[in-house]
Amino acid sequence: MRVGFIGCGNLGFSLVRGLLGSGALKAGEVIASDLIGERLKRLRKLGIKTTIDNKKLVESCEVVFLAVKPDAVESVLKEVEGVSKGKLFISVAAGVSTKFIEARTRARVARIMPNICGAVGEMASCFSLGKDATSQDQKLIKRLLGSIGITFKIDEKLMDAITGLSGSGPAYFYLFIRALQEAGVQLGLSSEVALKLAAQTAKGAGEMVLKMGATEDLTRQVCTPKGTTIEGIKVLEDRKVADAIKEAVKMAAKRARELSR
Ligand SMILES: NC(=O)c1ccc[n+]([C@@H]2O[C@H](COP(=O)([O-])OP(=O)(O)OC[C@H]3O[C@@H](n4cnc5c(N)ncnc54)[C@H](OP(=O)(O)O)[C@@H]3O)[C@@H](O)[C@H]2O)c1
Repeated sequence: MRVGFIGCGNLGFSLVRGLLGSGALKAGEVIASDLIGERLKRLRKLGIKTTIDNKKLVESCEVVFLAVKPDAVESVLKEVEGVSKGKLFISVAAGVSTKFIEARTRARVARIMPNICGAVGEMASCFSLGKDATSQDQKLIKRLLGSIGITFKIDEKLMDAITGLSGSGPAYFYLFIRALQEAGVQLGLSSEVALKLAAQTAKGAGEMVLKMGATEDLTRQVCTPKGTTIEGIKVLEDRKVADAIKEAVKMAAKRARELSR
């Protein structure tokens, strides 16, 4: 199977890297395009073919990931519409509906909301199918996305919420990790050790939640009465950090809605 990636910036590159790393795709099966020479160079370093001709890319592939910015989707579809029949287009663009793509192409369409953690095989993603996508297409999407993390099929109406939660989500955790690191440095740790402790703590906490399926028991296990953690949690509660996080997700989802087409 030949798989193409149109647009290989932050997200497209992370998908290519992750899918090659998981073994779901082989370098010889992949072809990628971008407008930026440096980006094509780093793709070739992964052993894959590159092009600047999106039409040729689509012609040579059965499956094509659209990984350009939302406002570039329409012009890309104009370029490739004539060669799109019989292909599966998988769009990652925030706010761009399957209907929008279906109206401008003859391809079968799916829409996914990934995040950049696909690069290390730890992606949280969701997908929705367009009207002509088949059960085989679903199987393929589940296999590819499932090889680099967890994935859920969802009603397309929920895509903006997913965008605000897990699409943008890595950035929230980076902010949290950075704050933990800076606190560690203020308390005398080296910057490098503080960063690794913070990141591993985030990773370990996430792994435990995935295993247990809820956070309440785990929180109780760490927050013993009169212990140390409870003092830290009190500060986060006083400052209403949980409310701020909910507001952040809602604002990101709202922005996705504003981009909607
Ligand atoms: N970044 C994330 O964490 C994330 C998470 C979930 C979903 N997404 C979605 O992923 C998509 C890409 O986001 P991104 O952050 O990866 O953006 P990005 O870093 O700007 O990557 C997009 C790349 O596509 C190139 N491009 C533009 N027009 C093209 C064309 N006609 N043919 C080939 N390549 C073209 C761009 O080149 P120029 O810069 O020269 O235009 C750029 O290198 C967006 O639709 C976004 O909604 C991103």
